[in-house]
Amino acid sequence: MEPFAAVDVIRAKRDGGVLSPEQIDWVVDAYTRGMVAEEQMASLAMAIFLNGMDRVETSRWTAAMIASGERLDFTVLGATADKHSTGGVGDKITLPLVPLVASFGVRVPQLSGRGLGHTGGTLDKLESIPGWRADLAGGEMMTILREVGGVICAAGSGLAPADKKLYALRDITATVDCIPLIASSIMSKKIAEGTGALVLDVKTGSGAFMRDESAARELARTMVDLGTDAGLPTVALLTDMSTPLGLTVGNALEVRESVEVLAGGGPADVVELTLALAREMLAAAGRPDADVEAALRDGRAMDVWRRMISAQGGDPDTALPLAAHTHMVRAQADGVLASMDAYPVAVAAWRLGAGRARKEDSVDFAAGVELHAKPGDAVRAGDPVLTLHTSNEATFPRALESLDGALVWAPADTEVPRRPLVLDRIAAS
Ligand code: URA
Repeated sequence: MEPFAAVDVIRAKRDGGVLSPEQIDWVVDAYTRGMVAEEQMASLAMAIFLNGMDRVETSRWTAAMIASGERLDFTVLGATADKHSTGGVGDKITLPLVPLVASFGVRVPQLSGRGLGHTGGTLDKLESIPGWRADLAGGEMMTILREVGGVICAAGSGLAPADKKLYALRDITATVDCIPLIASSIMSKKIAEGTGALVLDVKTGSGAFMRDESAARELARTMVDLGTDAGLPTVALLTDMSTPLGLTVGNALEVRESVEVLAGGGPADVVELTLALAREMLAAAGRPDADVEAALRDGRAMDVWRRMISAQGGDPDTALPLAAHTHMVRAQADGVLASMDAYPVAVAAWRLGAGRARKEDSVDFAAGVELHAKPGDAVRAGDPVLTLHTSNEATFPRALESLDGALVWAPADTEVPRRPLVLDRIAAS
């Protein structure tokens, strides 16, 4: 005999009430067991979308989703830290960040996903390295963490299964963009993953999941509160995603750029964000004085990267896939690039083959967009601005169409102020 009826829980939230901890524990568990029907959970998700959940309810909802599956534990390895990004265009930061932090002896257990829609997935990027495996067998994650220090792999199906089921339902019932549901979804997986500290990169701007800055700020605050309530030290950086990060968008192109960062070079914005997040992770893990610039400069982070890639079957020295076809977009006149909208650049990369429309689609690892100018840069007529890469040249017209109006030009000599990358830091309150 079930202790509650789903219809009573739905009615309580529909009428603007606060769900009790017992109701939340039951409804999440019963839904995972198949005792609450999909249409009932869809209705409850919509009631939550419309009426929200307070901090206590959202914390309990998160705990119930964690309890629906296994919880990893790496405490025997000492200090651990992880990062989660809400996703952006050209966001390859995980790739240099994990080995950089691990090079200081702080273990990084990073469970990542594949891309869907306009944002790329870390696993897709790494799978452009021939032989690299995202799926690890039981015990392999612990071994690599112990021996190498960092691991980036696919999450097994045992982690927060309630979220997996609920997320698929939200996706088809217009209930994804709801802060308590997003925050509990992300945090249930990160807490179940067993990290000892968490740094969130919450992005705002046209290429971000949360375009609006005040909504992104509220999401960041909600997630920091959830981590704090669960005893996980959590801090968030609010970062700009109005223009692509770095100079590449697309899987193999982004791996190449990440390796440049690990070699002590790379675009200034990618380096800045990698260092900012690494400092936060290391401080949270008890290493506030770690000299992160030095570890990029002297090859320590690169050494961990090479070992990480090899441990998962990849060869760090193998050539990355190269596109069979490229198309260069050149400046029509002298001028200064005033802005480059991230979203249409992501759509162009996606149309070139870098992303997938359905979960089961494969991706073209070589496809993507290379940027030769960033907002604030001056160009002369005829200078290269973008190079489109693809294995299928039939994709060029639609990719170019998506870029219409994405680049805004100002007259030569215009001073274009650079928008700061890190907009704010949100810590436990
Ligand atoms: N990513 C998640 O994991 N969950 C959400 O609800 C939204 C984005």
